[in-house]
Parts: sequence; structure tokens; C-alpha cells
Amino acid sequence: MLDIKNLTRKFGGIVAVDDVTLKIEKGEIVGLIGPNGAGKTTLINLISGYYYPNEGKIFFNGKDITRERPFVRARMGIARTFQNPRLVGNMTALMNVLYAILGKEGGRITLHEASAEAMYYLDFFGLLKKRDVLAKDLPIYEMRLLELARALALKPKLLLIDEAMAGLNPAEAERVSSLISRIREEFDLTIVWVEHVLRILMRSVERVVAMHYGKIIADGRPEEVSKDKKVIEAYIGEEL
Ligand SMILES: Nc1ncnc2c1ncn2[C@@H]1O[C@H](COP(=O)(O)OP(=O)(O)OP(=O)(O)O)[C@@H](O)[C@H]1O
Ligand SMILES: [Mg+2]
Repeated sequence: MLDIKNLTRKFGGIVAVDDVTLKIEKGEIVGLIGPNGAGKTTLINLISGYYYPNEGKIFFNGKDITRERPFVRARMGIARTFQNPRLVGNMTALMNVLYAILGKEGGRITLHEASAEAMYYLDFFGLLKKRDVLAKDLPIYEMRLLELARALALKPKLLLIDEAMAGLNPAEAERVSSLISRIREEFDLTIVWVEHVLRILMRSVERVVAMHYGKIIADGRPEEVSKDKKVIEAYIGEEL
């Protein structure tokens, strides 16, 4: 589904993503880990089109999308969430999801149909009762759920999650991880999931890719990657 070839993105003197080559098969759920500044978000930004690479190519279902703009990639089936929720604060929870659906569907859907869809996704994440609350007034847990609802409402084939559990308490983090497992099954999704809460991530995914200084340092089953010497060294001083 996703074929990344020799991708490099620099910011001044920093090589945030350094010659990354990676393939993701349809139906996979892949955890993307690495210490702060490893290049995880930059890789998500490159796949979703928020940044363009200096070098390398990205293919999605065989098509070269390296230079496609984010909304084109969204229409092709790539959706994402943001590490720092990027909701429209002064719009209600419902409007945030509705706005995304209308933006994607344009004139192909009536307002009535789009509203019904938005309500469905809010309900899936337990946010129906919060539909009239302004996004900026939601607690962080519900902001993260709303980010997921909005991404899912785009009916993606590939969902990129950039930290769904940051700032949540352990019980909330558990609920988010079980919702992610459920959406993968019910919506037939391929998922790339960046997360620092490794304890939960490692048991929720089937494959883990570890980055450090912009490079992939390990790629394999969670139990293999968590024992990998390079990964342990990269994480010295952090949780593993
Ligand atoms: N827009 C930008 N301008 C300048 N430098 C950037 C930019 N985006 C990322 N970087 C730098 O690129 C490197 C990788 O950052 P990135 O945000 O991708 O890391 P990350 O793995 O997501 O880290 P974290 O776990 O803290 O979210 C860092 O050194 C960061 O400072
Ligand atoms: Mg990040």
C-alpha cells in the first residue's frame, strides 16, 4: 500500500528524515517509535503531504504521490491525526467532523447526509453527547478522540496516528488503544501509529519500526524490536 524509497527531509543543518526506505502492506498495523526528535512526525508529515522531501519518493497503491498536496492525498485515502490536536477550537465537535466530510466530499453529499455521517463517527468514539461543545472546551482525552473521529470520517485506507495517548491518564490511554484496535478491524484500515507509551503500543501492533536521528534502526515484531540493542541504546534515559 505504501512504498517509501530513500526519503530525506532536512531542516537547515538537521536531517530530520535520513534516507528512509519503508514498505507498509495493506491491513498492517505498524507502530512507529523513537526518542524525541527521531523524525517520526516529519515522516508522517511527508506521507500526508504537509512537507515535501528533499530526496526520495513515496508511492501509495502504486501511484507516485511524492508531490501531491495534502488534500489530494486525503481524497486518495490517506488521513492523519496531529500530535498537538489541530481542531477548529471555536467550532463544535460536530462541526469539526462535518467540516472535514464536506471538505472531502464537496458537492457529492447533502448536508443532511454529511451530518448523519458525522454523528455516526462521533457516536463511535462516545462523543455524541459532546457534539455541541466547542472543541477548545473539550478535555484533552476528548480532543484526541475527536481528532480520530475526524480522520476516520474521511473514510481513509491508510490512517496515520501521531500520538493518540500523549497527555492522557493510564485508563484513558487504554481506552484509546482499544478503540484504535476496534477501528482497524471494523473499518478495514491500514494504520501507522506513532506513540511514546510503548507499554501499550507494543501489545497493540504487529510490527514496530524504530527511528533514531532520522534513520530506521529496527523493524520487526514488537518482542524483537524491544530487545534490539540499538533500540535500547537510543532510549537510554527514556521509557522502554
Ligand atoms: N518545521 C521544522 N523546522 C525545523 N526543524 C524541524 C521542523 N520539524 C522538525 N524539525 C526537527 O527535525 C527533527 C525531527 O523532529 P520530529 O518532530 O520529526 O521528531 P519526532 O520523532 O516526532 O519527535 P517527538 O517524539 O518529540 O514528537 C528534530 O530535530 C526537530 O527539531
Ligand atoms: Mg513527533
